[in-house]
Amino acid sequence: MKKITSLFCSIMLLTMLTVNLTTAQAQGGDSLYKRLGGYDALAAVTDDFIGRLATDKQVGRFFVGASQSSQKRIRQLVIDFLCNATGGPCVYTGRDMKTVHTGLKITEKDWDISVKHLTATLDKFNVPAKEKGEVLTAISGLKKDIVGQ
Ligand code: HEM
Repeated sequence: MKKITSLFCSIMLLTMLTVNLTTAQAQGGDSLYKRLGGYDALAAVTDDFIGRLATDKQVGRFFVGASQSSQKRIRQLVIDFLCNATGGPCVYTGRDMKTVHTGLKITEKDWDISVKHLTATLDKFNVPAKEKGEVLTAISGLKKDIVGQ
């Protein structure tokens, strides 16, 4: 029952995130997905972000031991997740955030380092302040499902 409730909450969170981020689209503006530059831009951002995490001395430990095909699978799922959550045309077929990160015991410190890397990635790709803020706000909504599980 607890599992079903937490799965339900995670699905609701993803739905709310998607609804929030797609409000601009419903109001006639471009989706965040489009404003970020579409699929290729999102894929490039994901590669840079994962690269930074995997080579970081504190959080790199989470990514040790995954085979190349597992790494590719995670990369694809992260792209699909971000594409879907920002109003793009992708379907996310992965597990919900709480389920996939439970057992990893990601700490507040790990989270802060990860957010710094994401910010550095967004800066590297010259993502404008408005879109950068929207991405970081959306990601911060996922924290409670990712940290301390
Ligand atoms: C910033 C927000 C984050 C998002 C949107 C995100 C998203 C995802 C997605 C979509 C997957 C694959 C889901 C699946 O296999 O079904 C995944 C897996 C994973 N994530 Fe995250 N993640 C985030 C933060 C983090 C952080 C901060 C860490 C650790 C520092 C982390 C570590 C991992 C690991 C190790 C896996 C692979 C788990 C496994 O296959 O068993 N993630 N993440």
